[in-house]
Amino acid sequence: MNESALASWSEARLARVEDALSRWVPADAPAGLGQAMRYAVLGGGKRLRPLLVLAASEAVDGNGEAALRAACAVELIHAYSLVHDDLPCMDNDVLRRGQPTVHVRFGQAQALLAGDALQALAFELMTPAAGTVPAAMQASLCRLLARAAGAAGMAGGQAIDLASVGLPLTEPELRRMHQLKTGALLQASVMMGAACAPQPLDERACAALRDYGAAVGLAFQVVDDILDVTADSQALGKTAGKDAETAKPTYVSVLGLEPARALAEALLERAGAALDASGLADVACLRALAERLVRREN
Ligand code: IPE
Ligand code: IPE
Ligand code: MG
Ligand code: MG
Ligand code: MG
Repeated sequence: MNESALASWSEARLARVEDALSRWVPADAPAGLGQAMRYAVLGGGKRLRPLLVLAASEAVDGNGEAALRAACAVELIHAYSLVHDDLPCMDNDVLRRGQPTVHVRFGQAQALLAGDALQALAFELMTPAAGTVPAAMQASLCRLLARAAGAAGMAGGQAIDLASVGLPLTEPELRRMHQLKTGALLQASVMMGAACAPQPLDERACAALRDYGAAVGLAFQVVDDILDVTADSQALGKTAGKDAETAKPTYVSVLGLEPARALAEALLERAGAALDASGLADVACLRALAERLVRREN
């Protein structure tokens, strides 16, 4: 599948995700909280995590309602992580998705609360009282997302990130930080799609998807580190050059630019090899998404 076939596949899915997010993120939360939440979620973004959920779910003939809810839930966790990541006490960024960051626009307290409320909403979305999502599937989806968002995933990785400013991390230390802060949510996106399957997957397919998710998850942050150096703020929609300015260890600072690029390509190959070994019939979208994710320019 080439990029234009992927574009037509993703167009319809993205429209569904945007529509669902717009319906589910409440405008009427008290005292302006709803506006801050909607600003954090609905102002663009590549929506790569929702697309991974939907592609993985389609590869296993997953439950469509569960997959759409999971796709939106992971995007809400991601949006919350960005709101908090941009706060002055973390990366202190003023630009996100081409707009002023949430705390610049609404104040720090409202930004904190918007993040909190988005995180809670993610789990509410995955546990509908009525509909077609079996209770055991709801529980599996919540477990995957909770683990990837918490201390063993994104939040833990962000703690390492903040503790690593100015430190000369080794490559294994850097890899662990990236796997947690960014890789975990991307891998969880894939595994949540897989968890929408009507029957539990065999171990071969499960292990292959886990490995695919690990490879694209790490590749994603390697590319984020590269783009911070090679792209401009206009293209990124966020402040370029921030990592060097704030002495964050990155794949570029630890390995150098060309080795970082080579690593991203090697991870893309590993993702493809994992799909080859999965035994799943239709992995074309997952393969094309991995390529989009690594070859992206913003
Ligand atoms: C940026 O993520 C933050 C990281 C985890 C590296 P994305 O590049 O997916 O951001 P959006 O959602 O497209 O804005
Ligand atoms: C963010 O990493 C990872 C998150 C968990 C949000 P970065 O701090 O590198 O993300 P950007 O570059 O600000 O998007
Ligand atoms: Mg950060
Ligand atoms: Mg940041
Ligand atoms: Mg970055």
